[in-house]
Amino acid sequence: MSKLPGSAGVTLLGDKSLDFYRDPVSFYLLKLDKHGGRVFQSRLLNRPTVFICSVQATREMLCEKSHMFVKDPTDLMTSVYGETIVTTNGEEACLLRLSLSSLLTGRWLDSSRDYISSVCERCLKDLSLSGDPQCVYSGIKRLGTEMVLGLFLNVRAEEQPELFQEITQLCTQHWHGLISAPVKVPLWSSGFSTALDARDRLMAIIKDKLENDQQGFVGCVRSLPLPHSSSASQHLLLFISALIPKALASLLTSFTLALAGNNQKETRQRARTNCGYLQAILLEVQRLWPPFIGGRRIAVQDSTLAGFHVPKGHTAVYISHGVHRDPEVFQQPDNFLPERWSGGNAGQEHLLCSFGGGPRNCIGSKLTHIVLKEVCLYLLENYHWCLDPPSQDLQYKWLPVSRPNNPPTVTFTKLDQSGSDRKDNNIGTKAEK
Ligand code: HEM
Repeated sequence: MSKLPGSAGVTLLGDKSLDFYRDPVSFYLLKLDKHGGRVFQSRLLNRPTVFICSVQATREMLCEKSHMFVKDPTDLMTSVYGETIVTTNGEEACLLRLSLSSLLTGRWLDSSRDYISSVCERCLKDLSLSGDPQCVYSGIKRLGTEMVLGLFLNVRAEEQPELFQEITQLCTQHWHGLISAPVKVPLWSSGFSTALDARDRLMAIIKDKLENDQQGFVGCVRSLPLPHSSSASQHLLLFISALIPKALASLLTSFTLALAGNNQKETRQRARTNCGYLQAILLEVQRLWPPFIGGRRIAVQDSTLAGFHVPKGHTAVYISHGVHRDPEVFQQPDNFLPERWSGGNAGQEHLLCSFGGGPRNCIGSKLTHIVLKEVCLYLLENYHWCLDPPSQDLQYKWLPVSRPNNPPTVTFTKLDQSGSDRKDNNIGTKAEK
């Protein structure tokens, strides 16, 4: 059993959190270069931490050794969202997963399809109307917010615009608590305390819904066997939070960028009519630009990862960007090659970790895939699009979700009725010269 490469440094002084949070991708790339392997140790949030950037070691932690690497109940997620499945372990986590997954994949999901289509239609139908460039990230974030508030709380933007607006603002304030320092100083309202105030107001709205609405998700969730009386409201708070709209906006911005312009015309045409090919494109988008940087676990006993000794109490994080570019599994790892999913990587979708993996994978991935497919098909069937202006700084940032540092702007042009990309030549000349 070998010692982990790198150093976990000394308390406080050796902490590398600032370096990591400033630019997690440069951080791990530098370390890979230095240590010559895809698993190393450093100090994060003042804890000795194993960083995992290989497919095999990620599978080992998330699947085979999931009982030794568990969720951290003291994670910031608990202070912001309360006790939810995300930071719970053992039997309670199993019970929560069973209950919530059955709801998120069963009849409720089937009955949500019409609503999902209607939100897509409403949010995407006017993209070309003004002829002006659109910020895809903000547009899809709005679509995602309409989706989660309608699906999980029965609050529909077109029916209750004021309540919708109020909840959206509260969710934004609440979200800032996740990314601000957790300090609550009397007479001085930090981002964190504002976030907690927003949480209180959101909880009041959610409890009112739970008491009075018989329909939809809210109606079903209160009859689930959940561990404690506030479980339903805390999970609703999690599901309507800004996390899901931001993750959707991240993936769909990357999709739009990957397929923008005249030189992607054939790719768009093929994706429009070939479901398998669209699926391969979406896999490739999440491989190269996973919305979340990764996930964190705590070792509850001495263990090993990739043959290295991991002492009890160490934290371990998988870095999805690094895992998805592991050259052991993905040839030409930095290239956008949807064809790999019907070639060398066919049947290996489970090796991606954009939705986690193993027994603690994402329970919302089925819903997410339905939404992603619906949005992508709507765009492909109705529009040609190109970057506008054609030259933009597309350098990505990776936190809190991956997206270009400066949200890109795109001009959408309606396809003609027959669905052919007839107008592409004009657009291409404008955008790509
Ligand atoms: C683009 C959309 C989404 C992405 C990228 C995403 C990503 C993830 C990832 C990476 C994890 C695992 C985290 C870890 O390993 O620590 C996870 C877990 C989870 N996700 Fe998602 N998710 C998305 C949408 C959703 C939706 C729509 C829901 C619910 C409605 C949801 C609910 C959850 C829950 C409850 C967990 C925790 C599961 C557990 O700890 O057992 N997610 N998600």
